[in-house]
Amino acid sequence: MKVAVVLGTRPEIIKMSPIIRELQRRRGSGGEIEYFILHTGQHYSYNMDRVFFEQLNLPQPRFNLNVGSGTHAKETGRMMMGIERVLLEEKPDLVLVEGDTNTVLSGALASVKVGVEVGHVEAGLRSFDRSMPEEINRIVADHVSEILFAPTEKAKQNLISEGISQEKIHVTGNTIVDAVHQNLELARRGGSAALESLGLEDGRYFLATVHRQENVDDPVRLRGILEGLRLVHDHYGMPVVYPAHPRSRKMMGEHGLDPEGIILTDPLDYLSFLRLESGARLIFTDSGGVQEEACILKVPCVTLRDNTERPETLEVGANTLAGTDPERILERARLMIDCKRRWSNPFGDGRAGERIVGILERIIGEDPRNPFLSRKVDLKV
Ligand code: UD1
Ligand code: UDP
Repeated sequence: MKVAVVLGTRPEIIKMSPIIRELQRRRGSGGEIEYFILHTGQHYSYNMDRVFFEQLNLPQPRFNLNVGSGTHAKETGRMMMGIERVLLEEKPDLVLVEGDTNTVLSGALASVKVGVEVGHVEAGLRSFDRSMPEEINRIVADHVSEILFAPTEKAKQNLISEGISQEKIHVTGNTIVDAVHQNLELARRGGSAALESLGLEDGRYFLATVHRQENVDDPVRLRGILEGLRLVHDHYGMPVVYPAHPRSRKMMGEHGLDPEGIILTDPLDYLSFLRLESGARLIFTDSGGVQEEACILKVPCVTLRDNTERPETLEVGANTLAGTDPERILERARLMIDCKRRWSNPFGDGRAGERIVGILERIIGEDPRNPFLSRKVDLKV
């Protein structure tokens, strides 16, 4: 059986890494699954892409489509054309995609259209806000996938309530837990340089990441967030560090916003970022992955959005929604800062990658004709 792992952005590289490692490990000991990595090139700056392959010791992508940035249609269209070409050449039995980016939408759509089945990792998340591009991407990917790896029971219920057959859904945990477990010790041992170089002390700083389209492209929302972070800095007298996504840098420039009281850095490598997360007094974010990591690391989180597709973090008391109003951001920070860090992690035991690859192997084992191959029509354009 041959699997194409399609990825293209920072969070997909990080969250696919436990699966890639497991595929590599099993292949090394005679496993039946052959795989290759197809990178769309949606992310391409060194610190959004290659640094993660190097640091996580991942094999190089066999293909890189180098699509770069563009409007939604441009990115998605270019990626679909490139993915289709590779699928027709390589004829994999299954395409694996992870998450909710344009890469995921393109990977899933291009695959089903040429008769290659799709496995969606991190299926079933819903913000119930269709103005977000991520929500559209995940809904489409879930509905064209044949195998859905839901991280939690709640995600599974979302899928069932949309009419997706229960047999297709496997609750596996989220591979972000694997990634944190696999890298935290390394981050703690080697990552202190990140703290030192920024002049930070454990428990005496705040960490922020903000990059989502609905926040940074809107000058009112972005101004509100930056003002809220400044209020937090002034109130507590502690530094706020913000490793800024390139989109956010660009939009601060376009909106003429100059963040006061905030230490802006370039995007960080994974070990440095994990180290900063684990020592932060509070994390402020609109990122999906960062909400999860904060919860796993037992660092309280203030989410700079009006909704979240990670409601489990709210339910266990690890996270709160603040939106983008400055006063509310400060109020939510005051609510969370001294909360008891006693919650249990709702995203699994750190063996999701192993479970996902195990499920793929079991599916082949159960049907000697290979269910993927027998159901597949001839690859055609
Ligand atoms: C994408 C995802 C978002 C995810 C984020 C992870 C979609 C619709 N959005 O958003 O869900 O949370 O990735 O980080 O897929 N840029 C660079 N270098 C890069 C990549 C981007 O400079 O390597 C800049 C470019 O100016 C580009 C902008 O960032 O126009 C946006 O990039 P894009 O990939 O379109 O979306 P993200 O904001 O990264
Ligand atoms: N991350 C990183 N360096 C940074 C910021 C984030 O390595 O400077 C990691 C973070 O640990 C998490 C992932 O990037 O695993 C989250 O990706 P991002 O916030 O870009 O996307 P989202 O999760 O919102 O889709």
